Amino acid sequence: MKTRRCDVLIIGSGLAGLALALKMSSQGKVVILSKEKATDSNTDMAQGGIAAVMAREDSFENHIQDTLTAGAGLCKVEVVENFVNQAPDRIQDLLNWGVHFDVRRGVDNEENSIDLTREGGHSFRRILHFEDQTGHEVHRTLLKRVRENPNIELLENHFAIDLIINKQVNTYDMSPTRCVGTYSLNKTTGEVEAFLGKSTVLATGGAGKVYLYTSNWSGATGDGIAMAYRAGARISNLEFMQFHPTCLYHPEARNFLISEALRGEGGELINSQGEAFMRKYHPLGSLAPRDIVARSIDGEMKKSGAHCVFLDMTKQDAEFLKKRFPAIYSKCLEYGIDMTKTPIPVVPAAHYLCGGVLTDMSGRTDIPGLLAIGETACTGLHGANRLASNSLLECLCMAHNASNVLGNELNDLKVCEHDPKEWHYPEESNDDEMIVISHMWEEIRRLMWNYVGIVRSNKRLERAQHRLKNILNEVREYYSHFKIHSDILELRNIAIVADLSVTCALRRHESRGIHYNLDYPFVPQVKVLDGERRTDPKAKDTILLRGLR
Ligand code: FAD
Ligand code: SIN
Repeated sequence: MKTRRCDVLIIGSGLAGLALALKMSSQGKVVILSKEKATDSNTDMAQGGIAAVMAREDSFENHIQDTLTAGAGLCKVEVVENFVNQAPDRIQDLLNWGVHFDVRRGVDNEENSIDLTREGGHSFRRILHFEDQTGHEVHRTLLKRVRENPNIELLENHFAIDLIINKQVNTYDMSPTRCVGTYSLNKTTGEVEAFLGKSTVLATGGAGKVYLYTSNWSGATGDGIAMAYRAGARISNLEFMQFHPTCLYHPEARNFLISEALRGEGGELINSQGEAFMRKYHPLGSLAPRDIVARSIDGEMKKSGAHCVFLDMTKQDAEFLKKRFPAIYSKCLEYGIDMTKTPIPVVPAAHYLCGGVLTDMSGRTDIPGLLAIGETACTGLHGANRLASNSLLECLCMAHNASNVLGNELNDLKVCEHDPKEWHYPEESNDDEMIVISHMWEEIRRLMWNYVGIVRSNKRLERAQHRLKNILNEVREYYSHFKIHSDILELRNIAIVADLSVTCALRRHESRGIHYNLDYPFVPQVKVLDGERRTDPKAKDTILLRGLR
């Protein structure tokens, strides 16, 4: 088996992975594995922007309070403080790397300051953006820097399968358990290779693809979470899948996001009768926190039997809309919707996983040698519900904190000298069965959408759990007998993440943030009083632990 060694092994080429690679490249040899093209990621699709306190009238305290309020009593205050306070420095990192943000111009058309927009749950304008394609601008710029950097090797089409724990390298190894690297499928050759690093970092992103309808890219299958779980790390809070209220509703497009920034610029949600309904549910109307907007839309659709609601932008200036939201404007137009003239049909979809691999604010997991950063991690920043545009910020802050930790210890660490155990290729292979794989994918995703969606109940969750146990057994069977293929690897991962999400949801005996269960209809109102920074003492993380294989 081909075995390669480096100082820092990063799995994932989204914002978290690229930012860490750039920060570590002066200290050692960095290898990044990316399971498809390096551009394929949630980062590249991010629209709204990045939250940071930049305006004079805003304050860190405001951003902290907004994050805690959205998080419904479950945020970790020290993490929120750390990330919010360093946000302006992380924006400066982006500017130094060459990222552009939209700017405001004065009367003389001189560039004045970075333009700040608003999104749900933010009490001030504090979202830096580049048109409606912030993620693409950030990702494009960092990727260029990475590709130019001689100390970083970026390998596309390399699918990380399972972490290598030192016991797998040498069964007689008496050293403490440590992650030393990963097995990875080279999708071009079909061979499994081993990559060993002094430190291994999971930056594999989210798991929207566990659900039938999602805003996420097609590879958001929770691979890092499933890998960490199989290796014995603790996984936390998977019941908190955030549903974005507004994805385009069109038979040919169910995963295109209609950014919350449209509501930040005056967009109004209306139902099929043309009624602006959000004020019935929350004083902030269409700009209420995401969980409330998504649940209200779900309720309106169920009440009327309509397939969608609408986002009305027609009262805004048409030229402003075309300039401020060029990608959304042209995407809608492709489907025959001119958003300057007609309300946009929208529905909620799975968007962001607040839970993940349990880490501290620098990405350290339970397993020495293994870090997890970005959406795949659960630091406690988001608690039970993420504040809009805090996740790109989290990627940057975690990459920065992780680089400090790694920078301090890299010189004292050694990359594993033993070669890992050979990969065992199953003998059986039947390509006709690929259709079964896609049926199982579809079954899991539909099951999660129908039974583990915006509104849950114990009965629905139990039904989902029962069905998932059977599917998991079938998936295991396929995995161990089938020729290795990325579709099976992803199926195995979504089956595990779906099952863990249901287990977490069943263990939470309350409704909180984005987890809403009809059997516990009381939603605790966690009022954060002026100047007080606290979480709800009754709120607990839901933590799952798996022993080493
Ligand atoms: P990603 O950017 O998803 O990158 C994951 C990487 O891991 C990819 O390169 C992938 O190929 C790789 N990978 C995964 N599994 C494997 C494997 N097994 N082997 C090898 N490589 C693997 N957040 C905001 O803050 N502001 C926004 O405006 C915003 N808008 C959004 C809009 C959309 C449509 C979506 C989907 C999300 C949005 N988010 C936004 C959320 C935000 O984009 C993500 O949380 C963030 O980009 C995650 O970055 P990441 O680096 O953790 O993961
Ligand atoms: C959006 O643009 O609505 C997405 C913002 C986010 O998910 O943070």
